Amino acid sequence: MPCLVTVGGFYGDEGKGKIVAYLSIKDNIDLAARGGAGPNAGHTFVQNGKEFKVRMLPSAVLNSGSRLLIGAGVLVDPVVLLKEIETFKSTDRTFIDFQCGIIDKEHQEDDKNNQYLKKTIGTTGSGTGPANAERALRKLKLAKDVPEIALYLEDVSNSINHSIDNGENVLIEGTQGTFLSLFHGTYPYVTSKDVTASAICSDVGVGPKKIDEVLVVFKSYVTRVGEGPLSFEMSEDEVKAKNWLEFGSVTGRQRRAAPFDFDLARKAIQVNSASQIALTKLDVVFPKCKGLKNFSDLPAEAKDFVNKIESETGLPVTLIGTGAEIMDTIDRRNSTK
Ligand code: IMP
Ligand code: MG
Repeated sequence: MPCLVTVGGFYGDEGKGKIVAYLSIKDNIDLAARGGAGPNAGHTFVQNGKEFKVRMLPSAVLNSGSRLLIGAGVLVDPVVLLKEIETFKSTDRTFIDFQCGIIDKEHQEDDKNNQYLKKTIGTTGSGTGPANAERALRKLKLAKDVPEIALYLEDVSNSINHSIDNGENVLIEGTQGTFLSLFHGTYPYVTSKDVTASAICSDVGVGPKKIDEVLVVFKSYVTRVGEGPLSFEMSEDEVKAKNWLEFGSVTGRQRRAAPFDFDLARKAIQVNSASQIALTKLDVVFPKCKGLKNFSDLPAEAKDFVNKIESETGLPVTLIGTGAEIMDTIDRRNSTK
C-alpha cells in the first residue's frame, strides 16, 4: 500500500467505515488521517458483535497501534471529538490540525432552523454547512483557539508527509460520497465542500504525487438520505421487500434506495481516478454470501454481479463485504494484482 485514499462512490453510506476498519487491522496501518466535511458523516463498524460509530476520529480507531489524525480541511465539533477520544481511550494517539475549523452551537442551530438547509436540501443539521460558509468568509474560529482540545493539536500535514516519506502505511479516509460533492455532485443537493479524492488529500495536506492507490467504495445497491435526485429510486415497499431498508447513522433518517448504478460508478471512478473498488453489503443483495471469506465460495449470481462490475468499470473489485463484522470481508488483493 504505502499511501491509500478511500472515497465514497455514491451518496455516502457506502460502508467506508467498515472497509477502513478492516484495512487498518489487516494492513496494520501506522497512520490514519480523516479528510472530508466533518461530523455530518457517521462511520460504522462492528467487531465481535459490538457496533462502533465515529463522526470525528478515523475508522482505524480499533487498531490501537494506528495514529489518528484529522486534517485541516475537516470541521471539528469539540463535543463530539472529546467524547469519541474518551470512548476509544485514544488520548495519546489523536492529533488534530491547528487549522481545523470549529463548529459551535450557533452553526448547529442555523443548520437545523434554516428552512432552506433543513427542508429543501435536507442537511444532517450538524452545523457543517454554516461553519464552512463562515470559513469561506474567513471568520470561523480554528482549533488553535479552543483550549479544550489544545492537547491534541499538531501540524497534521507535516506528520502525514513525514510518515509517507518514511515508508509507513498511511490511510487517508474520505467521508460522504462523490455525488454529495459541492463541485461534482447533484448540486444543490450536496454537502458544503468537495469530497472527491483530490479534496480529501487536500484536507489532510498531501499532494497528488504521494498517493499510491485510490480505493472507491461502492455499496451493492445505492442509497441516499436527504433530498436530491436518485435514478431508478424504488418505492418504500420494494425497498422493504428486498431488505435494503437502512437508517442514517447520524440523523436516524430512513434512506432512499435504488439498484447498483453502473453509470454513476463509472463517473465516480473517473473523477476520483480510482484504481480499485471495494464492494460492500454483497450479503444484503445475495444472502447466501453472508460471512463468506473466499470469492470461490460465492454463489454464481453473486460472482456474476462482481464480474459485471469489473467488466463495466474496468477496475478490479479487490475487497468485498459479506457482513457487518469487520472480518466479514473477501480480500482479493493478492489474487487480482
Ligand atoms: P450536510 O452535509 O449536513 O450539509 O447535508 C447535505 C446533504 O448531504 C444532505 O442530503 C445529507 O443527507 C447529505 N450527507 C452529508 N453527510 C452525509 C453522510 O455522511 N452520509 C450520507 N449523506 C450525507
Ligand atoms: Mg454514514
